[in-house]
Amino acid sequence: MNDVTAVVLAAGMGTRMKSKLPKVLHRAAGTPLVGYAVRAALDLGVAEVVVVTSGHAEIDAYLAHAFGAKVRTVVQDPPRGTGDAARVGLTAVATERALIYYGDAPLLTTRELEKILAASREVELAFASAVPEDPAGYGRVLRDGSGRVLQIREQKDLRSDAERAVCEVNAGIYAAKKTVLDRAILELQPMNAQGELYLTDVVASVAAYGRVSALVGSPDALVGVNDRSQLREAEELLYLRTRERLGREGVMVHGDARVDDGVSVAPGAEIEAGVRLRGATSVGPDTHIDVGCVLTDATVGAKVELKPYSIVVSSRIGDAAEIGPFAHLRPGSDVEAEAHVGNFVELKKTRMRRGSKANHLSYLGDGDIGERANVGAGTIFCNYDGYQKHQTVIGEGAFIGSDSQLVAPVRVGKGAFVASGTTVTQDVPEDALAIARTRQENKPGYGEKLRARLSEAARLAKQAKK
Ligand code: UD1
Ligand code: CA
Repeated sequence: MNDVTAVVLAAGMGTRMKSKLPKVLHRAAGTPLVGYAVRAALDLGVAEVVVVTSGHAEIDAYLAHAFGAKVRTVVQDPPRGTGDAARVGLTAVATERALIYYGDAPLLTTRELEKILAASREVELAFASAVPEDPAGYGRVLRDGSGRVLQIREQKDLRSDAERAVCEVNAGIYAAKKTVLDRAILELQPMNAQGELYLTDVVASVAAYGRVSALVGSPDALVGVNDRSQLREAEELLYLRTRERLGREGVMVHGDARVDDGVSVAPGAEIEAGVRLRGATSVGPDTHIDVGCVLTDATVGAKVELKPYSIVVSSRIGDAAEIGPFAHLRPGSDVEAEAHVGNFVELKKTRMRRGSKANHLSYLGDGDIGERANVGAGTIFCNYDGYQKHQTVIGEGAFIGSDSQLVAPVRVGKGAFVASGTTVTQDVPEDALAIARTRQENKPGYGEKLRARLSEAARLAKQAKK
C-alpha cells in the first residue's frame, strides 16, 4: 500500500451537532469519530494519513496523542464543501494514488477501504455505495438504463420523484489516481443548493470520459454522523459489533453491558448486565465482572471477582483479587493478587499488597498495606492535613482493629496490632500493640440507679409543661 495516501475529510464544526466541540471529536463508544477513520487506514497499511481540519488545535492534539507521527493534518479555511476539502487534502499527497473518505463515519472498516482501493486499480474512479433502509439525507447514485454510473446527486438537489425513489446512496469512500482526482476537482463548480464544492461531483466529471465503478457495500459503513441522534445510532452499532466480536473470542457479555472501543477483554471473562468498561481498560482471563461495575482505565488480572456496583478508575487489580460490592478504587490504587477490598471501602493511591484485606467501610488514601495485613471495619487513613497529603504504611501481617484512625504520616510495623478504636498518631514498632483509648470502667448495679434517676427527670419535665 506504499502507493496510497488516505485523505480523511474532517473540517468544519458540524453545525448540526449543536456543540462547541468540532464534530469529529465527539466520541462514539469512547473514541472520537476521527479516530475510527484514521485507524481504518493505518490498519490497511497506507503510506500516510492526511486529515483535513479547520485548524482546531484539539484535533491535532488528539491525533498526535493517539497516532503519533503517522498522521498529519492540513487546514481548510474556510470550509467550502467536501470537494474543496479534498482539494486541500490532495495538496499534501505525494503518492500515486489517494483514498478519500469522510471523518464522520465510525463504522467504516479497513475491509471496506481495501475493496474500494482494489477496485480503483481496474477503473479510473471507484467509490462505495450502499442501499440503506432509509436513503433520506444521503447523495443518490444515478445510473443510466444499462446500469452505468452517471453521477451522485445530493438530497437537496434531487430533481424528480424518480430521482428521489433511487435507493442506492453514496457511502463516501473514493479511490483513484491522484492525477484523476486533481483534474476532476479543478472542474468542480458550486452550482448546487448549498453553494458548495461537492466532492460527489467528481463522479460525473470522471464518468464523462472514463470508467467509474460504484461498489455496493454494507449500509453500516455508511452511517455518517451529522447530529447527535445519528451519533447515538452509530454508537449502538459499535457496541453491538464489539459484543459480537467478544462473543466469538470467548467472552460472555450479558444484556446491556457496554465495552468501549479501546478496551481489551481476555477469553473466559464474563461481564454482567449494566457494566461499563471504558478507556484503556484491560480485563484478564476468567475474571467475572458483576452487575453495574464501572471500570475506567483499569488493568484487571485473571480470575478476579468484581462484585456488583464497584467503581474502578486508573487502578490495577491483581489475579484472584476480590473487590466489592460497592467498592471504590480511585486513581493510582494497586490491589495485588488475592487481596480483598470489601463493601464501602474507598482506596485512593493505595497499594494493597498480596493477600491483604480491607473488607468493610474504610477510607484508605495514600497507603501502602503490607502482605496479608488485615484492616478492620471503619478504619480511616487521615491522609490530608488541609495542605498536604501524607502516607500511611502498614507492615506485613499487621492487624488494624476496627474503627481506628491512622493520622498520616505514620507507620505500623510488621506483625503489630492496633487495638480497636485507636487513633494512631505515632509509629507503631514491629510486633507491638498500640492502644489509645480511655480504659473501661464497670459500675456494678448502676443500671437500676440510672433508670430511677432518668424516669424521675422525665416525670418532672412533663409536670412542668402542664
Ligand atoms: C456527504 C456526501 C453524501 C454522502 C454522505 C455520506 C457530499 C457533498 N455529500 O454528505 O453524498 O451520502 O456524505 O455520509 O460530499 N467536510 C470538510 N470540509 C467541508 C465540508 C465537510 O472537511 O467544507 C468534512 C466534514 O468534516 C465531514 C465530511 O466532510 O466529516 C462530510 O461532510 P458532511 O457535511 O457531513 O456531508 P454530508 O451532508 O453528510
Ligand atoms: Ca456526514
